[in-house]
Amino acid sequence: MRKAMGNLHVATLLSFNFWLLIVQFQLCHTQKIYSNTSCIERERKALLKFRESLIDESHHLSSWCGENCCSWEGIGCSKSNGHVVKLDLHNQFPFDPSRYFYDVIYANSYSTTCLGGEISPSLLELEHLQYLDLSMNNFSGIPIPTFLGSLRNLRYLDLSSAGFEGMVPDDLGNLSRLKYLHLGDTPQGWSFGSDFTLTAKDLWWIAKLSSLESLDLSGVQIVNKGDWLHAVNMLPSLLSLTLAGCDLKTIPPVSHINFTSLTSLDLKGNGFSSPIPLWFSNMTSLMNLHLEGNYFFGPIPDSLLQLTSLTLLHLSSNSFRTSLPDSLCNLSSLAYVDLSFNHFQGSLPVCLGKLSSLTILHVHSNEFSGTIPTSLGQLTKLQRLRLADNPFTGMLSDFHFANLRELKILDISSTLLSWNVSSMWIPPFQLQYIHMGSTKLGPPFPSWLQTQREVNTLIMSNASISDTIPDWFEKVYSQIHYLDLSTNNITGKPPVFKEINTFDRLIIFYSNKFEGSLVSFPPNAVAFDASRNLLTGNIPPLDGNSEIPLILRYLHLNDNQLTGSIPDCICNIQSLFTLDLSNNQLTGRVPLCLGKLQQLKTLNLRNNSLSGHIPNSLGYMEPLVYLLLSKNKFHGELPWKMQNMKNLQVLDLGENGLSGILPAWICNGLSNLRILRLQSNNLEGNISMQFCHLKDLQVLNLAHNKLEGKIPTCFGNLSAMVSTESDITPFAFYLTRHPQKLSNFMKGRELEYSTNLPYLRSLELSGNNLVGEVPEELMDLVGLQSLTLSNNHLSGRIPDKIGNLKQLESLDLSRNELSGSIPLSLSTIDTLSYLNLSFNNLSGRIPTGNQLQTLNDPSSFEGNSGLCGKPLLKTCPDDKSPDGNKSSGRHEAGEESYFSWFFAGIGPGFAVGFSAVCGILTFKKSWRYAYFQFMENVYNRLWLAIALKTSKLQRKFSRCI
Ligand SMILES: *[C@@H]1O[C@H](CO)[C@@H](O)[C@H](O)[C@H]1NC(C)=O
Ligand SMILES: *[C@@H]1O[C@H](CO)[C@@H](O)[C@H](O)[C@H]1NC(C)=O
Ligand SMILES: *[C@@H]1O[C@H](CO)[C@@H](O)[C@H](O)[C@H]1NC(C)=O
Ligand SMILES: *[C@@H]1O[C@H](CO)[C@@H](O)[C@H](O)[C@H]1NC(C)=O
Repeated sequence: MRKAMGNLHVATLLSFNFWLLIVQFQLCHTQKIYSNTSCIERERKALLKFRESLIDESHHLSSWCGENCCSWEGIGCSKSNGHVVKLDLHNQFPFDPSRYFYDVIYANSYSTTCLGGEISPSLLELEHLQYLDLSMNNFSGIPIPTFLGSLRNLRYLDLSSAGFEGMVPDDLGNLSRLKYLHLGDTPQGWSFGSDFTLTAKDLWWIAKLSSLESLDLSGVQIVNKGDWLHAVNMLPSLLSLTLAGCDLKTIPPVSHINFTSLTSLDLKGNGFSSPIPLWFSNMTSLMNLHLEGNYFFGPIPDSLLQLTSLTLLHLSSNSFRTSLPDSLCNLSSLAYVDLSFNHFQGSLPVCLGKLSSLTILHVHSNEFSGTIPTSLGQLTKLQRLRLADNPFTGMLSDFHFANLRELKILDISSTLLSWNVSSMWIPPFQLQYIHMGSTKLGPPFPSWLQTQREVNTLIMSNASISDTIPDWFEKVYSQIHYLDLSTNNITGKPPVFKEINTFDRLIIFYSNKFEGSLVSFPPNAVAFDASRNLLTGNIPPLDGNSEIPLILRYLHLNDNQLTGSIPDCICNIQSLFTLDLSNNQLTGRVPLCLGKLQQLKTLNLRNNSLSGHIPNSLGYMEPLVYLLLSKNKFHGELPWKMQNMKNLQVLDLGENGLSGILPAWICNGLSNLRILRLQSNNLEGNISMQFCHLKDLQVLNLAHNKLEGKIPTCFGNLSAMVSTESDITPFAFYLTRHPQKLSNFMKGRELEYSTNLPYLRSLELSGNNLVGEVPEELMDLVGLQSLTLSNNHLSGRIPDKIGNLKQLESLDLSRNELSGSIPLSLSTIDTLSYLNLSFNNLSGRIPTGNQLQTLNDPSSFEGNSGLCGKPLLKTCPDDKSPDGNKSSGRHEAGEESYFSWFFAGIGPGFAVGFSAVCGILTFKKSWRYAYFQFMENVYNRLWLAIALKTSKLQRKFSRCI
């Protein structure tokens, strides 16, 4: 169903764009072309030669044999003279961009259906060729052959999305009979761009194509673009113009428009930043207007609202900050209106109900307010209604839906709307997609849902539902494709799901109060998230038939009360990317077969009661990026096989009973480690100098072990801790999308990190037997936010350069043998919100001023007999009058700094994460690719959907061409 919707979308765009034109063109040609005319030998040879230079992996051209070339696949001959007039080799495999970028299997099968190789000049023998279509293939970056400009009879030339790269030859301007020219690289209106970019010096070469009716140069980068409009203005016959993603930037002034017959204008994704030009209304036949993904602002011109033929108005992702005029309702042909992702204000015009042709109304992600006009209920053709992410208020009643018999998609998420329908209401529609997340739906479960039998997507996350799951739910929704009930207070047994015949099912109901045991995993799911509920009992067995390909990628059962051991059958789900069973009461050993999960990137078994050795077989899980086994009862040594886990970035084995010498191989084998947490084990030995080679290490936590010796001075080389830059690597992308909790002892307490984890830099070595001085070199780690060396036997002075650590939020050097005075530079660290220097041999006056003023808890300094001055009661010898005021209310101060840290830490980190994603996508093509490769299938689509809503990423996407 999801796929069907994707196609529906593409089909709509296509039909609005070019359908008419293509139909017209093909009609007039099929009257003349018969494939059974016999073939001219010279042309047959030319075609064979042409085929020789092509790569045809999937044998499209296997019919190219025998004498009559007119009957070959893709060839058309003229009835009157037998010449080849048509060569149509466009790739017919349906292109679905939403799958192409996420679904490796689909992308590969698409790629093999593409023709590639070279274009032989033997084509020139086909002197009568009128129609040449090589679109949707992959010629892997060869230039468009210049000789095509000599095929003087061409009327139709389509080279779009065919992997051509380089300069568009000016010679194409010689094809003076051309009516149809498509070189664009954004199939069907999508604008993700591809590996290959065409460039044009300017647009003046098209000025000679005076018969041109349809022009598509999407994604072509035009070097001299200043006068693009004047070149286009030489084409008076133009009916369809598509210059999407050409980075045109400005619409030059023009005194007179020649292409007044234009029916379709597509200028999306160009960065135009102006009001809509008034002359748009001179194109009196205009039906489709695509202006999305620009920075258009200002009012919608009145004159534009007189274009009564207008059927499609796409203004999404611009900078409109105006209200909708009532005159919009005069555009009685309007079928498709998309105003999403702007700042449109005011309420929806009450007269909207007059737009009787309306099938699609997208006004989501704006600043619309007020109530929803009941006249919407009169739009009998309406199929999609998206009101989401606007501060709409009031009630939705059955009047709003009175005649919406065709409605398939309803999105009212993130609005302030609530429902006022009776529990007996039988809606006129059968919805396929329902998004009511982040609205006030509950407390009871909406009962009208039981009338909806075609739903493939139901999202009701965070909708204030506090109810048991109704009996009818399973009957109606057991075959649902995508269900999200997360973050409610739904009680009762978790629903059971039936098999369906698609492969990207998502079943998500985390953060509820489902109780009892899981009977089975939902079949055909790629993601199943039942975390943060009250589930008990064992992890269910896999459904009997092991022949069924298991496709589950994300399994999250964390934060429940599951008991028993991890069943061996988990090892059969070889598709798993993420397995999170943390925070349960699982016991027993980790299955030895776990090494079979060769795709696993995240394994989180934290906080259970698992025991035994950590199995060596984990070392075979090479793709593993996260391994979190902390807070269990593992004992024994670290398995040396683990040094094979070259991709490991986070290793958390804290709070176990691991023993033996802290192995140096961690540093050689696991060279990509960013976070290493071995806190609270029984590890012995010295900290090897090898640790200094972990150039990506941001968090090193070896606290509470039995380590000895000195802190290596080469720690100053831990370059990731030197960096103060926000991390914008794929690691950060990964973490933003798969937030993993990890605790770190910081600020005297244990704090949990998830979304801000990629931005954390800390060094924790407390509770060992370390001796020697605090190396001066540590003061080079200027990115550190936390430094904890407490409970050791460190001696000497606190380095004067401590003030270099300008990012430091938490510093704990307590319970050592440090002496001398507290460096004054400490007071220059503005970010410091936790300081503990207690129980050392420090002496002299406690520095004051700046941030230190706020850290007025005497316990930070106690146990240092030589210290004096505030906040201690002991005055220094040279003080005048003692200040008897104890720092009362220090608790509040503590709380406050904790919260201010919380917001300062998590907030910006998260924001940086998002802007980093957007920023990169807009300007760095190679990054974009890395990013897309990172996006594994559906869960990411989900994430992307969220991202699109929360930021205006969508706009950025449409620009990154
Ligand atoms: C050629 O095709 C036309 C149209 O399909 C048909 O009417 C005609 O009979 C065919 N002639 C031969 C010789 O097959
Ligand atoms: C189109 O308009 C321009 C003025 O912008 C004019 O100079 C030119 O001759 C016109 N071209 C055609 C082909 O009508
Ligand atoms: C648009 O049409 C009006 C009225 O016909 C005319 O005066 C004006 O010059 C036209 N503008 C352009 C840019 O063609
Ligand atoms: C669930 O119920 C608790 C009280 O029982 C309430 O504090 C919480 O906000 C509710 N959560 C949701 C999502 O409704």
